[in-house]
Amino acid sequence: MRNTVLVLGTQWGDEGKGKIIDFLAEKSDIVVRYNGGNNAGHTVKVGEDIFKLHIMPSGCVQGKKCIIGNGLVIDPDILIGEIDSLKKTGRNPDLMISGKAHVILEHHKIFDAGREREAGKGKIGTTGRGIGPAYSDKAKRTEALRVHDLVGENFREKINNILELKKHDLVRFGVINSESELDDYKEKIAEKYSRYADVLRPYAGNVPKAVNTAIESGKNVLFEGAQGTLLDVDHGTYPYVTSSNSTAGGVCTGTGVGPDKIGNIIGVVKAYTTRVGEGPFPTELTGETGSMLREAGAEFGTTTGRPRRCGWLDIVIVNYAKMINGLKEIALTKLDVLSGLKKLKICTGYEIDGKETVDFPVYLDVLTRAKPVYEEMEGWENLTKEQIIEICRNGFTSLPEQARRYVKRIEELTGLPATIVSLGPERSATIIR
Ligand code: IMP
Repeated sequence: MRNTVLVLGTQWGDEGKGKIIDFLAEKSDIVVRYNGGNNAGHTVKVGEDIFKLHIMPSGCVQGKKCIIGNGLVIDPDILIGEIDSLKKTGRNPDLMISGKAHVILEHHKIFDAGREREAGKGKIGTTGRGIGPAYSDKAKRTEALRVHDLVGENFREKINNILELKKHDLVRFGVINSESELDDYKEKIAEKYSRYADVLRPYAGNVPKAVNTAIESGKNVLFEGAQGTLLDVDHGTYPYVTSSNSTAGGVCTGTGVGPDKIGNIIGVVKAYTTRVGEGPFPTELTGETGSMLREAGAEFGTTTGRPRRCGWLDIVIVNYAKMINGLKEIALTKLDVLSGLKKLKICTGYEIDGKETVDFPVYLDVLTRAKPVYEEMEGWENLTKEQIIEICRNGFTSLPEQARRYVKRIEELTGLPATIVSLGPERSATIIR
């Protein structure tokens, strides 16, 4: 399919997907999100306006039709907040939400925080948005609420049954003090979520039908991934992952299209690596260079504000993402952040138990023992905003030579063309090759 593009993260999320999606959305008719929830944070900068989106597909800023697939878990409060803030900027979102998407309920958020507290040192470092508990209930099947249930006639009966089944945990995590408070709590939640339902009802729809019809009629469809390959519940650094499939396979299960419908697959690669939360990170820089990357790259969570752990670019990870997702191209982001460093390092392999490998270790205990094997490269001078705009206007060849070498080395090591190179959050700070 030539009229579909998938954009996803190749690392641990926060690769700058929001900007790339916003950029590509211009040529798209429809933008479809397929996984995650408001654990994601996509920042889109248009002129002086900065949009921080957590659940709405990034294409909404361009006024494109936006679709939220069944692979998501939706916190209605957050979604409605985003719809309202878009309306305040004169954008009336053209939105469809899958009736099969799951709803994050009040208790999911409290259970998420409570489970992390109880786990102590074994915590995952979640965003605390109720993501894990909502997906757990989806898999459990008996205690979950879908958008179709939320906006349907039997909502009250459904929610009452769910809360009845949850009553022990509601007490355990302090949502209610005792089971005698359950009836009042049911009433409060039913009231609150009924109000959400009234707002969201007009948006609920048949997503597989809408997306497949659009593709078949030649519309340009952009699939938007949240998080990154290493946060995928199956292929990531389990258990330090999120609870959904952020990899390419998630598009099929999370929207209802067949694999033959996915055309180009673009992996967003940040020019260095970051990670939030717990878990091993072979190229992590805990000293001065790490702090410099954090400050220069504004590496603080869009969702939680947590400082991100920073490190050198890890090609082992990018090549793993290439394999898992079938990447065809790379969008390289935040190259400007590396400006001013005298020397740069790229991790080209790992040494594990005295042996060198270019394969990403599948299991966490092995990854924990991986020591990065580096290749060193020359850095380039600091670039001012004006210089960046000039470079982007004139194209790739006007980048400093060392920066070009860095990009070309990434292409050699991955065998993928870096067709988009981003040098800042603005749309104008982009080189298309
Ligand atoms: P959860 O998705 O809130 O359950 O968090 C699980 C792990 O995924 C934690 O390490 C989070 O920091 C991480 N995570 C979830 N969403 C994102 C994201 O959008 N960017 C980066 N990390 C994320």
